[in-house]
Amino acid sequence: MDADSSGIKWAERQQQTLRSLQRRLVEHIKAGRTTDMADAPMANPARVYADPVRHEAERQKLFLEMPLVAGLSGDIPNTGDTLVFDGAGSPIIVVRDAAGRANAFLNMCRHRGARLVNDSGCHARFTCPFHSWSFDLNGRLVGQPGKLSFEGLDTGQLGLVQVPCTEWHGLIFVKAQPGSGPIDVAAHLGGFAPELAEIGLESFAPVKSGVMKANGNWKYVLETFGESYHLSSLHPTTLANTIFNNVLLFDRFAPHHRIGFAPRSYGELVDKPEGEWPELYNVLYMIFPNTAMLLGSPMPGHMFIQLFRIFPNGLSATDTHFTLYAPADSLNEQSRAVASAGFDLARGIIETEDFSVAAGAQRNLLAAPPGFKVNYGRNEVALQHLHRDLAAAIGMPL
Ligand code: FES
Ligand SMILES: [Fe+2]
Repeated sequence: MDADSSGIKWAERQQQTLRSLQRRLVEHIKAGRTTDMADAPMANPARVYADPVRHEAERQKLFLEMPLVAGLSGDIPNTGDTLVFDGAGSPIIVVRDAAGRANAFLNMCRHRGARLVNDSGCHARFTCPFHSWSFDLNGRLVGQPGKLSFEGLDTGQLGLVQVPCTEWHGLIFVKAQPGSGPIDVAAHLGGFAPELAEIGLESFAPVKSGVMKANGNWKYVLETFGESYHLSSLHPTTLANTIFNNVLLFDRFAPHHRIGFAPRSYGELVDKPEGEWPELYNVLYMIFPNTAMLLGSPMPGHMFIQLFRIFPNGLSATDTHFTLYAPADSLNEQSRAVASAGFDLARGIIETEDFSVAAGAQRNLLAAPPGFKVNYGRNEVALQHLHRDLAAAIGMPL
């Protein structure tokens, strides 16, 4: 492994992948800022964003039954570290046990169902605020005040309800529905697996996280991460200053995909030998169905992972769980401050620019006349595939 100018150590294969993406971006720039494209435009009925029946199918098939990214290993490095989230439709805690394993449970007391934990953090055990039943890190019931009153109940059967959870190359996956079978990450990721494994996500640590609210459909929110066609129009004073509008790489690893954005600084690489190219990347990994992970360097000399996990909170409301991670071994006070500023910057742009469009569009799409369709251009190739793959996954036509 070699350290590049951003201070991060990429495995050789990752270096080669990123360099090949960089070459393709430079080719697009050289050709007059062209972009990867689909064969044809695609129309999609407005009801895809506005139909409660479809929404219910999405919640069941995508969010309860499919493996979802719960976070990175660096979110819970130590015994007792716990992630809490509800977006998938079940209240979930993911906790690292004393053996170093990540397990996931419903955040639901086995006495009368109260919520055990409200915030992510480190816990020695989970003690219910209602009557103080307590559960160890493996979900076993280990404390029951006034035990006498429950004589006859088998405490061995009153552990927390487990949900499937697997940790894989620095990613933690859960399935929100208890009893929905073990997670086969290799099968879920298919050809995307080696691309994600080579990033070395294990070496990243969280710096800042938060939940961003949008009054739009979750798919519309997700789409804002999937094309660069809107940069100069919607982000003229922010992202468009650093990234070329409407230049995009698209690689499909169905149903997942990878996108490359073109930093404006790559314009200078056209006539430079590769040996002099800087190590700058803007690569987005879309892990089906709801996770956008941006590997990027918003500031020279710093490499971040920005993880966006997008959850419906109703048909017309979306919660985006956003965490920014930085390489753990280079984290110090100064790099933390830079990373934290990067988070605030990204959040500000996304909330004020992207999400306000998503909200306005949702009001329109709900009120759209029968037969109204949205149109994805050839340049919005990721959106085309996303919608076809989502339709297939829920077993409903577009
Ligand atoms: S509901 Fe948890 S202890 Fe009573
Ligand atoms: Fe945007």
